[in-house]
Amino acid sequence: MILAIETSCDDTSAALVSANGELYSSVVSSQHDVHKKYEGVVPELASRRHCEVITVIIREALEQAELDWTDVDAVAATQGPGLIGSLLVGLAAGKALSLRFDLPLIPVHHIEAHAYSAELEYELKYPYVTLVASGGHTIIFLVRSSRDYEVLGQTRDDAAGEAYDKVAKLLALGYPGGPAIEKSARDGDPQAISFPRPTLTGSKRWNWRIEDFDFSFSGLKTAVYYHLNENPDATRADVAASFQRSVNDCLVHKTVEAARKYDVPRITLGGGVAANSALQESFRQRAENFDLEIFVPSLQFCTDNAAMIGYRAGQLNKTADLDLNADPNLPLNPLS
Ligand code: KG4
Ligand code: ZN
Repeated sequence: MILAIETSCDDTSAALVSANGELYSSVVSSQHDVHKKYEGVVPELASRRHCEVITVIIREALEQAELDWTDVDAVAATQGPGLIGSLLVGLAAGKALSLRFDLPLIPVHHIEAHAYSAELEYELKYPYVTLVASGGHTIIFLVRSSRDYEVLGQTRDDAAGEAYDKVAKLLALGYPGGPAIEKSARDGDPQAISFPRPTLTGSKRWNWRIEDFDFSFSGLKTAVYYHLNENPDATRADVAASFQRSVNDCLVHKTVEAARKYDVPRITLGGGVAANSALQESFRQRAENFDLEIFVPSLQFCTDNAAMIGYRAGQLNKTADLDLNADPNLPLNPLS
């Protein structure tokens, strides 16, 4: 049984997952109330809140699983990437528990955990293509096995979630931006404004040409900015829906093309942006044309959670010494 801890950004989470990936409990404490008035995550406030709640969250995860310390065989914690102050709280808690209960410590890469997170709920065969779209990363992976994956493409500038958050700010929709834009977009027309589809060439929908599997979203955010400057009376819902359609077109088109190029019959999604229901719907519609299966984690496992950290820890055959440090820029290490 693995006790997993995740504190890479603004959610404090603990979970109990068996070594073969069965989930016993998952507790997530959101910090939205702390950061809301600043319209974004304030790192110092995030780490302070992690400090305040971490022990309570860990205890709650044990209680929900109806387990105690004698049942726990290992402690897993996110080592990076993320906000250094936030990461340090979870990793220090993991180290303290490892020392106190004489348990091995398993460090986990946050983005790897998102990449494998669909396996928590689905019996997936390898290989699959996975899109991880979060606040800090937008990456297409080819996953060949639990130990072997390859990065096919990633964002050259802003991550998809970052673009959502910045555009939500421009539209004064509040924080966190992704869910706010999704909500506003429900009343808007996605074809009202023709925003660019960065890195896709051609103008006919789904007939685009692509050079590679990389993304770019910072120009799109700027296009929204100029549109709002030139059209101060623009309907917010139309802007939100058109922006969302543009991001989703890029994500869906490239990920599906990656699956086709590598002849992989299944796609999984991960990361906070994968919670977007218009994105999921676009993926399903597009996949039908190519006989691709789409697997989407439930909402609580798209956004940050310790369950995916525990699951990934169970797949890894590695433990760390207690002098291990958190790394805000921890690189991906395929075949590790
Ligand atoms: O994976 P995640 O919870 O944390 C990181 O590792 O970054 O992703 C957070 C990001 C934020 O940028 C948030 O705005 C975005 O995911 N997000 C969404 C939705 N829910 C969260 N973006 C679009 N639509 C959503 N429904
Ligand atoms: Zn994340």
